[in-house]
Amino acid sequence: MTDVSKKSDFPILKRRIHGKRFAYLDSAATAQRPVVVLKAMDEFQRKHNANTHRGIYLISEEATALYEGARQKVAAFIHAQPNEIVFTRNATEAINLVAYAWGRANIVTGDNIIVTEMEHHSNLVPWQLLCKERKAELRVVPVTDEGAVVMKEFTKLLTHRTKLVAVSGMSNVFGTMPDLAVIARSAHRKNALVLVDGAQLAAHVPVDVKKLGVDFLALSAHKMLGPMGIGVLWAKRELLEAMPPFLAGGDMIREVSLQTATWNDLPWKFEAGTPNAVGAVGFGAAVDYLTKLGMGSVRRHEMALTAYALKKLRHIKGVSIYGPTSARLKGGVIAFNVQGIHPHDLATLLDREGVAIRSGHHCAQPLMQKFGVMATARMSFSVYTTKQDIDQCIAAIAKATKVMA
Ligand code: ALA
Repeated sequence: MTDVSKKSDFPILKRRIHGKRFAYLDSAATAQRPVVVLKAMDEFQRKHNANTHRGIYLISEEATALYEGARQKVAAFIHAQPNEIVFTRNATEAINLVAYAWGRANIVTGDNIIVTEMEHHSNLVPWQLLCKERKAELRVVPVTDEGAVVMKEFTKLLTHRTKLVAVSGMSNVFGTMPDLAVIARSAHRKNALVLVDGAQLAAHVPVDVKKLGVDFLALSAHKMLGPMGIGVLWAKRELLEAMPPFLAGGDMIREVSLQTATWNDLPWKFEAGTPNAVGAVGFGAAVDYLTKLGMGSVRRHEMALTAYALKKLRHIKGVSIYGPTSARLKGGVIAFNVQGIHPHDLATLLDREGVAIRSGHHCAQPLMQKFGVMATARMSFSVYTTKQDIDQCIAAIAKATKVMA
């Protein structure tokens, strides 16, 4: 197994945790940032901090160029056009933007929206609110015990009244990756649009929005080695053009009178107020870093780690694993429980061994209900994860089973 990136690129991973080597296995919650991202943000703050699109003095023009440069980098990363890239706070805000701006203009009584049973709350609750408000129907595609979307059921639920299919590109619990191109083709045959929650997907596999053929994609920089507080909504230009604004205020206008206003060009029509320019610069540096590694190599690295971790976990008595059991069918995230140990207790014991995992419902309570558990433990990987991290985690789980037995 060859490592795809140098762990030493990530300063935080040099920390000792409770005197132990640090094994960070919670990248699905937030990924760590390489030094190039930290440096790009620091340099922006030290040398170029000014408001964007507003000043005609040097540092404001530099700030604007860096902000717009970051938009171009993110666009290239997902094979989109820069004017289709709207900066938001995170993927959650991007999904809410679609629910408010597109949803309120397009969903009427009797329509339906399709989601899957494995959605993160961020790609479920906005559609619940919209459907309630519009007396539309929220249809839910089940997943199998192995965490696969039941495509036969999806086809049954899809009708000429389906306006949107909102689906996770990679489950933050199972790591499942539905076949988005197939979903998009079926949805388009019924004139429905497809929104992908790409929060987990984009940091782990190559994403080409044109090849996928989807209509909306939501991203969060902090899952992609970038900073928190910045994300992206990508949408096809004609959809963004037809949508009314979401948030109103500065920068998103063309002309304002006391009673009325007209809107700026894309993508600024959807970017009200002073933007998170430093965040965007960090995001741009993060996608540069990922591009340099090569997303194909990233996927291969994480798949090998996942296969290794699955094999090791299965050897521990009392462990149940949720979701696909083959690394080929999932991203680098493994939800599991150990018989007789509450996941919170397990996470606390692992922390004492220097291992950070997540425990809880993972913002996917309906999925927990389906599997009859309140919570699970979860380990998740990124470009900097090593076999040694997994060995440390497996040894800590084995030790915990002895302590709690
Ligand atoms: N959605 C994030 C996770 O899965 C926070 O942990």
